Amino acid sequence: MPRQLHQPDRYPLTSKYDAAWLLDLDMGPNPLWLLEDLARDLALKPGMRVLDLGSGRGATSVFLAREFGVDVVAADLWVDPAQAAATFAQAGVQVEAIRAEAHALPFEANAFDAIVSIDAYEYFGTADSYLAYITRFLKPGGRLAIATPAMRQEIRDLGEIPAHIKACVGWEAVAWHTAEWWRFHWAITGLVTVTAARLQETGWADWLHWARAGRSPGRDSVIAMLEADRGELLTFALVTAIK
Ligand SMILES: C[S@@+](CC[C@H](N)C(=O)[O-])C[C@H]1O[C@@H](n2cnc3c(N)ncnc32)[C@H](O)[C@@H]1O
Repeated sequence: MPRQLHQPDRYPLTSKYDAAWLLDLDMGPNPLWLLEDLARDLALKPGMRVLDLGSGRGATSVFLAREFGVDVVAADLWVDPAQAAATFAQAGVQVEAIRAEAHALPFEANAFDAIVSIDAYEYFGTADSYLAYITRFLKPGGRLAIATPAMRQEIRDLGEIPAHIKACVGWEAVAWHTAEWWRFHWAITGLVTVTAARLQETGWADWLHWARAGRSPGRDSVIAMLEADRGELLTFALVTAIK
C-alpha cells in the first residue's frame, strides 16, 4: 500500500510534482520543499549555470532545470550517474550527471553562477578550509546556497549530543549547527557576503511529515528522533552567500 504524502500549501511549486515520484527518489528529508524555500533567497535566472552538489537521485536537479530554466550539473558521490541520468531523461530535462567527490571536483575555476546543496553539505562542508575550496568554482558575484539539518542550540553549548539525536545519527550530528554558526563560519573568512542564514520555522514539522510518508530504510529511527525532539532542537538551516 503506497504511503500518502500530503504536500503543504507553502510549497506551491513542489505541489505540482507527483508525490510517488518524489518518494521514489527519497534519500533524505523533503528535498524539494527545502529547495523551494532556499530558492527564495537566490536570484536564479534562465541560462545560469548551476551545480547541484550532492544531488542524490536527482529530484532537486529536475526542479532547478524545470522551475528556473537553469543549466544544471548534478554531482554526487553515492548515486550512479547513469541512474540519475535516466531520471533526467524521463523528466525531459537536460541535466549533466556526474560522479564526483566534493573535495575533488572536476571543474574549472569560476565555472558556476550558483552552487546549491540540499541535505548534503553537512557530509563534507563543515571543515574550515572547505568554503575557500568550493567558492573557487563560483564566478565573482555567484551564490552558494545550502539547506542542511540544523540545531536551535549548538551541540558545543549543550555539552553533548542529545541522546535522541545520537541514537539516530551518532557522531554525525556534530556537523549540525545553528544558522548563526553558519553565518559566522562563512562571514568571518571574508570570502563571501552572507545574504541569508535562517532556521526554517516549519523545518522540524516538514521533516517529520516527510519521514512518516517516506520509504528510506532508516525512517523508523528518524521518526523516533523527531518525535522525541518535539521541534525543540531540530530543524533545517538555509544559508546563502555571494562570492
Ligand atoms: C541525504 S542525501 C541527499 C541527496 C539529495 N540532495 C536529496 O536531498 O535528495 C546526501 C547526498 O550527499 C552526497 N554526498 C555525501 N558525501 C559526499 C561527498 N563527499 N561528495 C559528494 N557527494 C557527497 C551523497 O552521495 C548523497 O547523495
